[in-house]
Parts: sequence; structure tokens; C-alpha cells
Amino acid sequence: MSKILVTGGLGYIGSHTVVELMKAGYEPVIVDDLSNSHPKILDQITRITGKKPVFHQLDLKDEAGVRNLVTAGPNISGIIHFAASKAVGESVQFPLKYYHNNIYSLINLLNAYYGKAVNFVFSSSCTVYGQPDHLPVDENAPVKPAESPYGNTKQIAEEILRDTVASGANYKVISLRYFNPVGAHESALIGELPIGVPQNLVPFITQTAIGKREKITVFGDDYNTPDGSCIRDYIHVVDLAKAHIAALRLMETDSFKGYDVFNLGTGKGNSVLEIIHAFEKTTGVKLNYTIGPRRGGDIEQIWGQVTKAKESLHWQTELSIDTMMASAWAWEKYLSNNPL
Ligand code: UD1
Repeated sequence: MSKILVTGGLGYIGSHTVVELMKAGYEPVIVDDLSNSHPKILDQITRITGKKPVFHQLDLKDEAGVRNLVTAGPNISGIIHFAASKAVGESVQFPLKYYHNNIYSLINLLNAYYGKAVNFVFSSSCTVYGQPDHLPVDENAPVKPAESPYGNTKQIAEEILRDTVASGANYKVISLRYFNPVGAHESALIGELPIGVPQNLVPFITQTAIGKREKITVFGDDYNTPDGSCIRDYIHVVDLAKAHIAALRLMETDSFKGYDVFNLGTGKGNSVLEIIHAFEKTTGVKLNYTIGPRRGGDIEQIWGQVTKAKESLHWQTELSIDTMMASAWAWEKYLSNNPL
């Protein structure tokens, strides 16, 4: 069985990807420093899959620890690199934490496995496009100056990976530019676990619905969009997880060489108000929401051109906005009955 190192494998997208890897017959080896994840997620993955994956608690900034993984750890054929800090606001406040954690970890990992034949999947973001000039945005659109240190770490990491591949290393690399991942596993045993007050829309919606937050504020209704609120391309986290397996499969073929990048979205945009109303309709729960000022750094609208992933990865999304909302809600209810 092919072993895949999954860094950040107990995090939101990481845990869903571990489940899909196991379903697809891979053996994930999870590395996570638990800085933004919960150790119990390992038990939850075990409940879903019936098998406990190998787990190492390790901070990828620990150079000796990462080298030890290579010498003492299993032979791996691939790496899926999720481990990174991801709070946009925090990155503006503590840029050095973000550059240190997100960039140094990547360099340690690449150095440690340098020369080995490893297929590498990188967790990138549509944030690299900023506000695109044309919609839907495709992979050839220019990368815009980053709005935040977090966004900049994604741009820099993509460049590091491109340069590393070009240097003749034995790596094949695919960067996946995610649009907005939401929702949870159908079992409701894993999902997004924000620490403190959620920054992202859907966890804020579900926490408001369950009564943990009094109300949700829509950040601006005066944008140049049909209903005035911002538009994003929301993608179910399980669809997103499956794309990582498709990326590995592509790199396992001889025809794939070097480095490539793919958008991962549905190809459709939805406004904040549409998401709120979809949640209300699907769950039957009324949301207490108000309209507030714009949030600094938000772009007006973005959705992806996703034909490249469809053609080359033979992957496309299957799950609807309603399924995204229903699964996110089922997970929130599970958490309130079974706190981790
Ligand atoms: C944000 C980051 C993006 C990052 C992603 C990680 C910015 C500018 N972008 O995406 O780089 O990859 O998180 O998950 O921060 N909204 C509300 N009320 C809320 C929360 C959000 O109206 O309480 C709106 C936002 O204004 C936005 C939409 O909901 O229009 C989605 O917001 P969010 O879930 O935070 O994702 P992004 O900002 O798109």
C-alpha cells in the first residue's frame, strides 16, 4: 500500500483527506503539531474508517524532527502538505509568525525529502488571484500582490515549489488553489473546528444557529453584486478532499512531469446572503443576521474556472450548497452534544 505523509492531517481539510485516502487504498501517515487541531480527531477518523492511521505529533519547524521522519519513518510515495497557519487577520498582526511557520516548515520538508521520488500536493488558495480582472478566474490569471501575509505565504510557497521542481529535484508537485471549503463529513464525526470566534462565514452561521453567537453580521451589502453582498465559490470539503487523491493519481502517471497548478471550486459563485438563506431553507433554522460594514481586505467577488481540473484530474464537484449547509449543521449539532 502506498504511504502518503499528510501534514496537518488532523486539521479541517486534512482530516477529510485522510478519510478519502484510506477509502482509496492509500495508507496515510499523519503529522500534526496540534496547534490548530484536536487529538480526538484521530479517534473520529478511526470511527469512520475502522482503522487507526499512524500519527506523529511534530512541528515541521523542528528540522531534526523532520529529518528523523525521513530516516526512521516509513518510505512514502507522496506528501500532502496542509500544515500551515491560516488566520488572515492574525497574519497581519504577526507576520513573522506566518512567514516562519508557513515558509520554514515547507523548506524543512522539501530539504528533508530532496532527491527522493516524491509526489507533492500543496494546499494553496484562490487568494493568490486577489480581485481578478475576469471571472471565472482561470489558472493563467496573474497573481496579484497579496492582501495579507497569510496570502503572501501561499504565493511564496508556490514559487518555492516551482523553483525546486525546476532545479531537477525528484519531486513532482501540484498546487491546488482552493476556493471556499465548507461543510463536513456525512458521518458528522469530523468537520471544521474553529478556535475561538470563527472568522469564516459558515462556522459563524452554524454557531449562531446553535446559540453560541448572538447574531451574524453580513460584511457589507453595498458591493457591485446582484444583492450587494460578496460572492465566493463555496466547495464541499469532501469534494475538495477527493481532488487530492486525483492529484496523486495524476502524478503517478509517467505523462505528468514537473509542476502544475489547479483551481478547485464548483465554478459557481454564491453571495453571503444566498448562503444565509440556503442555510435557513435547508435546516429550517432562522438566522439572526444584520448588515454591517465591509470587512477590510475582502474582495468583492470571485469564482473559479474549473475545467482544467475536470480535464486533467478527471475530478469535479458533486455536492450541492444544500448538502454543504446540512452537513455543516449536522456537525455543529454533533459537537454541541459531544464536545471534544
Ligand atoms: C478567507 C481568506 C482566504 C483564506 C480563507 C481560509 C480573506 C480576505 N480571505 O476567505 O484568503 O484562504 O479565508 O478559509 O480573509 N462573511 C460575513 N460575515 C462573517 C464572516 C464572513 O459576511 O461573519 C463574508 C465575508 O465578507 C466573505 C464571505 O463571507 O464575503 C466569506 O468569508 P470567509 O469565510 O471569511 O472566507 P474568505 O474571506 O473568502
